[in-house]
Amino acid sequence: MQEFKIYFDEILDRKSLPKIELELLTKAEEILKTAYAPYSKFNVGASLLLEDGSYVVGSNQENASFPCGICAERVALFATKANNPHLKIKKIAITTKSEEFNIGEPIAPCGMCRQVLLEYEGQQKEPIEILLFNETKILKFKKAKDLLPLHFSEDRLKRK
Ligand code: THU
Repeated sequence: MQEFKIYFDEILDRKSLPKIELELLTKAEEILKTAYAPYSKFNVGASLLLEDGSYVVGSNQENASFPCGICAERVALFATKANNPHLKIKKIAITTKSEEFNIGEPIAPCGMCRQVLLEYEGQQKEPIEILLFNETKILKFKKAKDLLPLHFSEDRLKRK
């Protein structure tokens, strides 16, 4: 039997985080308000910290044609890469809020968002730290790769 292990830190005291990360969490919480989620009523906010110290934020955007909708993480990631393709992404923080659901544990990104994170992590050859959080807890992963074992990556597309 083989197994994968996922390592992460659980932080219960937000104030123990460095200032730059506290700011990152605040940005994710603020952008939640712009979520356009009339169908799921599940608001998600994502904030990125770039290598130059700037932040990029995104919220989920839904559509009456459901598959057109896009997650908060990819809104922020694609906006970053379209506007600042050469800046490395240092960290991403992700959070959620919903009046309709009991939000228990911090939200974990969907498979598509993990795949996109992994693509940019591979491209920039530096880890993207991931902070999944709610009001009481922060789960911190050292790199996107940790969230997607056995992934598909560009090295599989190399011709003979
Ligand atoms: N969603 C995100 O924005 N990020 C995630 O990590 C999971 C799900 C959005 C997509 C959809 O608008 C709503 O949450 C419910 O799935």
